[in-house]
Amino acid sequence: MFSVVSTSLLTLFSLCGISTNCPSVCTCIGNQTDCSDLNQLASMDSILNQLPYNTTFLTLSTNNFPAVEPGTFSNLSSLLHLDLSRNILSTLHPSSFSQLNKLDFLDLSENLLVELPVNLFSELRSLTELVLRDNRLKELNPGQFKGLMELKRLDLSSNSLCCLPMYLLDGLQNLVWLSLVGNKLRTLQRTSLEPATDLQHILLEGNPWNCSCKLIPLKHWLEWTLYRGGHVDSVNCSSPTNLYGKDLRNIPMEMFRHCYPLYLETRSSSFAEGHPVTAGSPGDCIRQRYRPVSVRRAAATVVVAGVVCGVVCVLMVVTATYGCIYAMLAAHEQQQLMHGNSQQQQPLIVVKEPEQDEKEDLVATIAKEEEALECAEWMAFPPEVSV
Ligand SMILES: *[C@@H]1O[C@H](CO)[C@@H](O)[C@H](O)[C@H]1NC(C)=O
Ligand SMILES: *[C@@H]1O[C@H](CO)[C@@H](O)[C@H](O)[C@H]1NC(C)=O
Ligand SMILES: *[C@@H]1O[C@H](CO)[C@@H](O)[C@H](O)[C@H]1NC(C)=O
Repeated sequence: MFSVVSTSLLTLFSLCGISTNCPSVCTCIGNQTDCSDLNQLASMDSILNQLPYNTTFLTLSTNNFPAVEPGTFSNLSSLLHLDLSRNILSTLHPSSFSQLNKLDFLDLSENLLVELPVNLFSELRSLTELVLRDNRLKELNPGQFKGLMELKRLDLSSNSLCCLPMYLLDGLQNLVWLSLVGNKLRTLQRTSLEPATDLQHILLEGNPWNCSCKLIPLKHWLEWTLYRGGHVDSVNCSSPTNLYGKDLRNIPMEMFRHCYPLYLETRSSSFAEGHPVTAGSPGDCIRQRYRPVSVRRAAATVVVAGVVCGVVCVLMVVTATYGCIYAMLAAHEQQQLMHGNSQQQQPLIVVKEPEQDEKEDLVATIAKEEEALECAEWMAFPPEVSV
């Protein structure tokens, strides 16, 4: 009889989700520990101290937790799912989430985060989803998500991001879903997105896109993503005024025709001046990073053509020099011969009219002399050798 009662009581308890391991203020159903909406009844530490170490699923949302102290979760290394949304978190420490190397899902949405420590997520090697929606993030460190190799979904919507660092998504080969909705992005470099090779869904709505020439690479990338069967929401332009409200994806390239002379000009001028592409300017930096093979081949062709041209030019100069020297020597010899003729052979020759071929010789000599002079000048001031 007693055993039947205790069994039914246990069943009742488990049905109501009450277990002996559950903190008094929380609700535990199965392996899910829900400590949300506590009305400031408990501090985060006092709750966590009551949790069994093997807790896997923890919700701490809708409280007024202002911070996560270093090592707060260090005894909960079994956690797979952690929800800290709807708090007033404004301070996180680099080791706030250390030890959570099994964590799969982390929700930090609807807090007051303005910036994130650089290494905040560096130990979350198993993380597949990170939600940072609805915070006040203005910028992110280039290495913010470094090491999150398993990350599949990244939600950065409804923040104040003005720009995305170029290397932000480097190493996130498994990322399939990215939201940047509702930020302050005016421009986005194609090369920031390219490292995420598996990206299939990208959401860019609600940003003040500046559809200038600089956004053309993004347009091409979006078109390519759509072509591969990916999903892209609308990218509505805020500026320039003639494109206001237009979706970047649907604007015909004809509208960007004015961009091309500019583009070609800047490229060829940097080639002609022989400057190495300056590493500092972001635009060029990008081009160097993910240059397609065809472009690299084109560059190689230019170099080879340059070398061949150079060799040909050097040969031409050598030949011309040789020709000039020969012409000068020949002219000199001719002159000496003429002098010799006129001084030594005159007495021997009886009255003789200046012969036709002698005249011709004279003309030839003069011509050769002129040629030599010209050559000498040419050698002194060779026309610019441009390759
Ligand atoms: C946690 O450990 C307790 C025993 O210490 C066990 O009864 C419980 O099932 C474990 N929970 C999970 C989710 O592994
Ligand atoms: C982790 O557990 C140890 C031993 O029970 C305890 O002394 C320590 O305070 C706990 N740490 C945290 C952050 O709760
Ligand atoms: C848009 O980009 C162009 C070119 O970078 C710049 O000159 C212009 O000022 C930008 N307009 C706005 C509204 O940011």
